[in-house]
Amino acid sequence: MKPRLFSTLRCLGHENPLGLPRSGAPPQMPRMQRGLPQKRNIEGVRKVIAVSSAKGGVGKSTIAVNLALAFARAGHRTGILDTDIFGPSIPTLLNLSGEPRLSANNQLLPLSNYGLKSMSMGYLLPSESSPVAWRGLMVMKALQQLLHEVDWGGLDILVLDMPPGTGDVQLTITQQVILSGAIIVSTPQDLSLVDARKGVSLFRKVNVPLLGMVCNMAGFVCPGCSEVHEVFGDMRKIRGMCEKEGLRMLGEIPLHAAICKDADMGKPTVVAEPEGERAKVFVGIAREVGGLIGLDG
Ligand SMILES: Nc1ncnc2c1ncn2[C@@H]1O[C@H](COP(=O)(O)OP(=O)(O)OP(=O)(O)O)[C@@H](O)[C@H]1O
Ligand SMILES: [Mg+2]
Ligand SMILES: [Zn+2]
Repeated sequence: MKPRLFSTLRCLGHENPLGLPRSGAPPQMPRMQRGLPQKRNIEGVRKVIAVSSAKGGVGKSTIAVNLALAFARAGHRTGILDTDIFGPSIPTLLNLSGEPRLSANNQLLPLSNYGLKSMSMGYLLPSESSPVAWRGLMVMKALQQLLHEVDWGGLDILVLDMPPGTGDVQLTITQQVILSGAIIVSTPQDLSLVDARKGVSLFRKVNVPLLGMVCNMAGFVCPGCSEVHEVFGDMRKIRGMCEKEGLRMLGEIPLHAAICKDADMGKPTVVAEPEGERAKVFVGIAREVGGLIGLDG
């Protein structure tokens, strides 16, 4: 049997995408539309953290997957949920594809690689290049299923790879799921810092604990002159912002071609070069975050 999402929530353009009544009657509203949804735990999952930034392309997915792999390598039962409905990255980052099977009680079963369980919209689309052209309601319905209809089989920690922005998806997640905390990702660039601040205020508004900031693309070790170039701007700004916002600086990840190459090859840095300098930065951040949320307790 095909997963429900796959069969009931086809991309627009496929026949009768949402199973809408032919009469043209409006589709049935999902549960969340009929009153405020309850904030709840994801079944069988002890801790949930979100890796977020209002700005696109700053490295959320790269950091989320490397942190998740670091948790898994430390012996924690770990999952990663790709909540980016429009631009899922996890299938590529974990070199996974194919339709998830369904459990006996009709839930989606995660796909695993490198000891990490994962679920992504990308597994539910007909092909990697299929664009998602959905309206808000369909996006929310898909998100509901990703959040509450996956059989994780017991996890110590689930990492949420968030889409860019501070819109519907972010709000729904923070209102419906009990989060242990959020990590904000930014580059040292001014433009990115402006958006990082937006993310900080969103999580504060909805009372999600901010675990700290990860600065990505912090400096570039130049293969030409061996010096560190601050490609995306002066590190003092981002450190100053953290101080002002009372945010912990969890770690600074350099801009390095290997991080990008590892990601593209579907073998993220933490598993590609586990003893390397860059992997150690991710492992250090995971250890600190684990301590902050009481992962071992
Ligand atoms: N430290 C780094 N060094 C080199 N390349 C990096 C680094 N971090 C991320 N990248 C690359 O930058 C690109 C964007 O990264 P990524 O997809 O993780 O960003 P994102 O914030 O998740 O983007 P989106 O907002 O689209 O979800 C990718 O090609 C990734 O491989
Ligand atoms: Mg991403
Ligand atoms: Zn140089």
